[in-house]
Amino acid sequence: MTVLADDEPEGATPLTPEAREGLIPAGVTLRRELNEYEQANITEARLWAIDRKRNPVDVPFCKNLHKRMFDDVWRWAGAYRGYDTNIGCNHPQIEQQLYQIVGNTLWWIEHKTFQPDEIAVRYHHGLVLIHPFPNGNGRWSRLMGDVLARYLDRPVFSWGGSLLVGDDEVRDAYLAALKKADGDDFPDLLAFARS
Ligand SMILES: Nc1ncnc2c1ncn2[C@@H]1O[C@H](COP(=O)(O)OP(=O)(O)OP(=O)(O)O)[C@@H](O)[C@H]1O
Ligand SMILES: [Mg+2]
Repeated sequence: MTVLADDEPEGATPLTPEAREGLIPAGVTLRRELNEYEQANITEARLWAIDRKRNPVDVPFCKNLHKRMFDDVWRWAGAYRGYDTNIGCNHPQIEQQLYQIVGNTLWWIEHKTFQPDEIAVRYHHGLVLIHPFPNGNGRWSRLMGDVLARYLDRPVFSWGGSLLVGDDEVRDAYLAALKKADGDDFPDLLAFARS
C-alpha cells in the first residue's frame, strides 16, 4: 500500500501504518478506488440507518453505525482506535467520553434545551471531537447527526452541499465552524450544516 498518506485533505486523519493494514479489498492502489469502495459501503449503511425508529443517541449504535459504514473496506470498522491522534481524546477514554456526549444529548432532547437542529449538530460535534475510530470519523459523525435530525423529525443536513466531493473552500468553512464549536460557539456550524 503506497497510497493514502500524502493526499489527505486538511483536517483529515492520516492513516497509521497499523490502520492501513486493515484494508479488505485486494488490489486497491488508488485513493479514488478506495473512495468508491467506501462510498458504496456508506450508501448501504445510510439506507439502513436513516429512518430507523430507534433512538440513535446510544453508544452501541455509535459503534454499529461505523461498522456498517466501513465493514466491507476496513477490518477495524466499528472498533475504537488504540492510539492517540491530534484530534480526539486520549484513546483509553473513548468509550467513557462517548457515554458522556450520549448522556448530555439525551438530556437536551428530554429537556428541549436547544432546537432539534442544534441538538443534532451538537451531537455531531461532540462525537467527532472524541474521534473514536482510526478513520471515517467525519463521515460517521455527520451521518450520526443526520440520523438524529430524522429521529427528531427534521430533514437530513446538507453539510455545505459539496463537502463530500472535496471542495476546498467548503471544507475550510466546515473546519472553521468546527473550531468555533470546539469553543462552545455553535451558530456557524449550525448554519453550515443547513447550507
Ligand atoms: N478542530 C476540529 N474539531 C472537531 N472536529 C474536527 C476538527 N478538525 C477536523 N475535525 C473533524 O475530523 C474529520 C476528519 O476525521 P477523519 O479523517 O477520521 O474522518 P473522515 O470521515 O475520513 O473525513 P472526511 O470528513 O474528510 O470525510 C473532519 O471531517 C472533521 O469532521
Ligand atoms: Mg479521513
